[in-house]
Amino acid sequence: MSTTETAALAQAPAHADVPRHVAIIMDGNGRWAAARGLPRGEGHRRGVEALRKVVRGAGELGIAYLTIFSFSSENWSRPVEEIGDLFGLLRRFIRNDLAELHRDGVRVRVVGEREGLESDIVALLNEAEDLTRDNTRMTLVVAFNYGSRQEIARAAQRLAQEVADGRRDASTINADLLETYLDTSGIPDPDLIIRTSGEQRLSNFLMWQAAYSEFVFVPLHWPDFDKAALERAVDEYARRERRFGGLAAKTGS
Ligand code: IPE
Ligand code: IPE
Ligand code: MG
Repeated sequence: MSTTETAALAQAPAHADVPRHVAIIMDGNGRWAAARGLPRGEGHRRGVEALRKVVRGAGELGIAYLTIFSFSSENWSRPVEEIGDLFGLLRRFIRNDLAELHRDGVRVRVVGEREGLESDIVALLNEAEDLTRDNTRMTLVVAFNYGSRQEIARAAQRLAQEVADGRRDASTINADLLETYLDTSGIPDPDLIIRTSGEQRLSNFLMWQAAYSEFVFVPLHWPDFDKAALERAVDEYARRERRFGGLAAKTGS
């Protein structure tokens, strides 16, 4: 092992402090581009490059689940050309990167509303999930056409239908059950949620799942975010004390 690798290992957070699930609101592509006199689409294109590096970096850090917010239910209110750019990038990302993700043992899960999306996009999302279903090294959760309120409403609708059909007694509905009807069913709640670009809000991202997440807000715009920035966020997470409504854990001293 080289000295740089040894140094990098020494700086890496202890495994116990690595969050199992990191979710990222990749924000600031447009401002990154505007600051350089470039079109917003160029910011999104550079954002995909950052994403590639961060997915690899997350795997190297031992993060088991990485969720990325790539298109929100509310992003439909953007100009049609920009929506076209964003969808084009998703298509290209899956077409170009799926084989490598699969080779690296990454399982892809997609959360969000698929109904109403163009059929070729739906086919790509299904292909990514089907091909990588049995991979175990890391799970990449792509939140696409995703909104937390919509996700909870869809879960409520399915449960209501079961009650209406006489297949379920309403008294069996509780938080644990509702959770299994969310798109994220089976995925642990995010331990750490990172938002880039300096904005400090959830924007309808994982509102149910974020009940006890730690938040780290990073001033960098998404295209400038990299593995080092991810490590800094993970270090900050490791310094937080999570209590989940209980009392502070004993430190043993
Ligand atoms: C994040 O960057 C990408 C998406 C929301 C799809 P933005 O496009 O929101 O960039 P800003 O916030 O306008 O700078
Ligand atoms: C959140 O960013 C959505 C994604 C990163 C995909 P936005 O840029 O859409 O959020 P707001 O509008 O600033 O809250
Ligand atoms: Mg934004």
